[in-house]
Amino acid sequence: MRRIVVGFLGCGNIGCGVWKLLKEFDADLLHRSGVQFDIKRILVRDVHKKRDQMVPQELLTTDPAQVTDDPEIEMVLEFMGGETPATEYMLRALEMGKTVVTANKMALALNWHLLQAAAEKHGSGLYYEAAVCGAIPIIRTTIDSLMSNRIETMMGIVNGTTNYILTRMSQEGGEYADVLRDAQRLGLAEPDPTSDVEGFDAAYKLSILSSLAFHARVPFSVIYRQGISQVDAVDIGYGKELGYTMKLLAIAKRDGNVIDARVHPTFIPNDHPLASVNGSFNAIFLHGHACDDMMLFGRGAGSAPTASAVVGDMLYAASRETPRHPTFNNTDALAEGLQVTDNWQCSFYIRLNASDRPGVMAHITTCLGNEGISIRNLVQRDAVDGCAQIVMITHNAGECAVRKALAAMASDDVRVESMIRVEGK
Ligand SMILES: NC(=O)c1ccc[n+]([C@@H]2O[C@H](COP(=O)([O-])OP(=O)(O)OC[C@H]3O[C@@H](n4cnc5c(N)ncnc54)[C@H](OP(=O)(O)O)[C@@H]3O)[C@@H](O)[C@H]2O)c1
Repeated sequence: MRRIVVGFLGCGNIGCGVWKLLKEFDADLLHRSGVQFDIKRILVRDVHKKRDQMVPQELLTTDPAQVTDDPEIEMVLEFMGGETPATEYMLRALEMGKTVVTANKMALALNWHLLQAAAEKHGSGLYYEAAVCGAIPIIRTTIDSLMSNRIETMMGIVNGTTNYILTRMSQEGGEYADVLRDAQRLGLAEPDPTSDVEGFDAAYKLSILSSLAFHARVPFSVIYRQGISQVDAVDIGYGKELGYTMKLLAIAKRDGNVIDARVHPTFIPNDHPLASVNGSFNAIFLHGHACDDMMLFGRGAGSAPTASAVVGDMLYAASRETPRHPTFNNTDALAEGLQVTDNWQCSFYIRLNASDRPGVMAHITTCLGNEGISIRNLVQRDAVDGCAQIVMITHNAGECAVRKALAAMASDDVRVESMIRVEGK
């Protein structure tokens, strides 16, 4: 039996979940791995706070050095959240030669290069399966199982809060603000939902995932981001009529040395595997040149599912003689030789409010035609008060061309109500 002494940085939702899993499943873990984890010290903000688990008071501390600098502690588990001071504490633990396991996508996405440099310099391990999509083993799958692939596309539903909101808007026809309020009441959205609904959380995760998938650093700063706070229930309804489901997707594609990486509301055909991923579930759909299409699906958040990933990392780290580091030069800049394009190709859903007058439709089609954009599908609703609602889906087109066409058609007679990207497989 090998005994590994462990320290926690944080003991909220995830910390308590890891505590519970390590305590309740310890005999099985020992039997399966030959390792026993002993929790020695836990950093919190308030040692008197009531916690979900009966964590002995004497383990709690407000002094980070009691975790990061204790020579007996071999593994430091970080579940504090936020960029600072979590990054500083992890850096300190790595400098002290300890293995760090983190669930913190924000700190990792923003400071991965610093953490990685410290890990490599001091021979420490840095593991982060829990930072992306909770229990879904997408990190290890990408770096180990799919190493023989050139991954060309990754599209994921990586944020449970926004998926829950869009699912309910789609199934019940509810308005965004009402469904968000309900999600907050049920504890499925934070009191300040900005990070989720504006796509920051998804973009942090996409930065990590796309870097691993493309074996090249894709920093958070190059990712295009648009959240769901402006989504109109009217568009979800029209999308449904046309056979599409709306999801907040994190998308990364690579074609040679050109990549696009983006988070935005997206229509996908109802028969796409991601279309049936509902509620707070997460899923990643990817395409590799050898493995072809693949999808991983599961619980992307929550105390027990995230603990499953954390403890999986602890066992993985314990089983390795030397730490595992990424295959690429992990700097804070986009990998040399790579280019990020903002002119990605896909179909587009466009909703217009147009005067019901001769020549207006010709103006719309001319603006699209001038940019080489053709229409695949068009629905026109009877005019009310002299204005008709026009909804169209284009054939594949470039983002820049579509923006240019929409800017040219906007006039007293045409109001552009919405533009939503449409992705297929
Ligand atoms: N919740 C999920 O479903 C989920 C899923 C995947 C990943 N994650 C990630 O896991 C991490 C933790 O999430 P959580 O939901 O467990 O958060 P949480 O419930 O808010 O817990 C945070 C913990 O960190 C402690 N803490 C925070 N700032 C501190 C500071 N400056 N000094 C000392 N202690 C501090 C808090 O102490 P007190 O208890 O004394 O306040 C608390 O124990 C985040 O990075 C999150 O993104 C969460």
